[in-house]
Amino acid sequence: MPALFPVWSDTALRITLGVLGLAIPGVFVVPIVYVRTPYNLNRHFDVMQPVQFDHRHHVKDDGIKCLYCHDGADRVAYAGVPSTQVCMGCHSQVWNQSPMLEPVRRSYFSGQPIPWNRVHLVPDFVFFNHAVHVKNGIECAHCHGDVTAMPIARKERMFTMGWCLDCHSRQPDRYAAAPRLAALVPGKLPGDAKTPLGHVEPVPHLMTCTTCHR
Ligand code: HEC
Ligand code: HEC
Ligand code: HEC
Ligand code: HEC
Ligand code: HEC
Repeated sequence: MPALFPVWSDTALRITLGVLGLAIPGVFVVPIVYVRTPYNLNRHFDVMQPVQFDHRHHVKDDGIKCLYCHDGADRVAYAGVPSTQVCMGCHSQVWNQSPMLEPVRRSYFSGQPIPWNRVHLVPDFVFFNHAVHVKNGIECAHCHGDVTAMPIARKERMFTMGWCLDCHSRQPDRYAAAPRLAALVPGKLPGDAKTPLGHVEPVPHLMTCTTCHR
């Protein structure tokens, strides 16, 4: 009687089992790992802008306050990006010949806003409000890192649900105490040296789903 299966079937079976052995956990592991990668979170990738606006010059060197340009942050939901008029308030006088400011002048004279690209964006189904946070004494750097040191505004935090929840209840000072942030914000060490940014009280009543998903 001939063999029921050919000789190679044994090898084929092993290879198939091997592939399945990797593929089945892979179906779960790959997406779990992927969602946490900087690729998916769009974190630490520079977003190209129509004008090379540099926060370091404006905030550090020229001492302009964040709220001068992002004037919604302590009043309404959106911090907002300044209008061309705000730029031209200075740049019709200073550096008014700079080629780097050509798109700003074009926008001013044509009335077309500068098409800034968004760096931070939470999905539509998430409700976020700047004013509530800023009025409760949470500094911009808590959530955005040290923008004053960034040549290009970029994402310093993963704006995941876990991150929001961490601050609302689980461990509000987790990021404030992160050594990396301490290094980013030199000289900002009030009282407790482990928390370079102000201490935040947990807000456990803001853990219900409808706080953020309405
Ligand atoms: C002179 C005006 C000006 C000042 C002052 C300023 N910004 Fe900005 N900011 C801008 C402009 C213009 C953009 C849009 C271009 C970009 O993303 O770089 C921007 C972008 C940003 C973004 C990214 C927005 C997004 O798309 O998600 C953050 C965060 C930010 N600024 C925070 C700050 C903080 C914090 C301060 C104070 C430390 C500050 N800015 C001061 C003009 C300003
Ligand atoms: C309060 C005054 C002020 C405002 C408002 C302001 N700037 Fe400036 N900006 C300056 C000064 C001063 C410089 C000189 C650079 C430096 O400090 O090194 C500068 C430099 C620049 C440069 C670099 C020019 C070059 O040739 O190197 C760009 C680009 C620029 N600003 C864009 C903007 C944009 C876009 C806005 C509006 C969102 C804006 N600025 C708002 C004062 C201002
Ligand atoms: C509690 C965290 C938190 C704090 C504090 C915070 N931001 Fe934001 N910021 C966010 C989130 C989340 C977004 C994305 C919002 C969205 O997609 O609607 C954002 C978006 C922005 C944007 C993009 C435009 C907009 O309005 O959505 C700017 C500019 C900005 N923040 C500036 C600031 C400045 C300036 C401060 C301090 C005065 C600040 N933020 C404080 C979390 C924060
Ligand atoms: C660094 C701490 C911190 C982070 C990060 C943070 N929050 Fe908050 N959040 C607070 C505090 C503090 C309050 C105000 C508590 C109070 O009203 O007593 C608040 C209030 C809120 C409220 C209530 C607003 C209202 O209308 O009453 C919402 C909604 C909210 N946060 C959404 C978010 C979302 C979404 C994120 C993430 C994208 C986030 N928060 C990240 C600290 C934080
Ligand atoms: C403090 C704010 C906050 C609270 C409270 C909150 N969420 Fe979220 N949720 C978020 C944010 C921000 C995102 C978007 C995350 C992202 O873009 O990665 C999100 C995303 C989600 C998603 C989409 C899947 C995902 O991971 O992107 C689901 C489903 C969800 N939330 C369900 C819930 C449920 C159920 C609760 C109550 C147990 C809840 N959320 C409470 C902020 C919150």
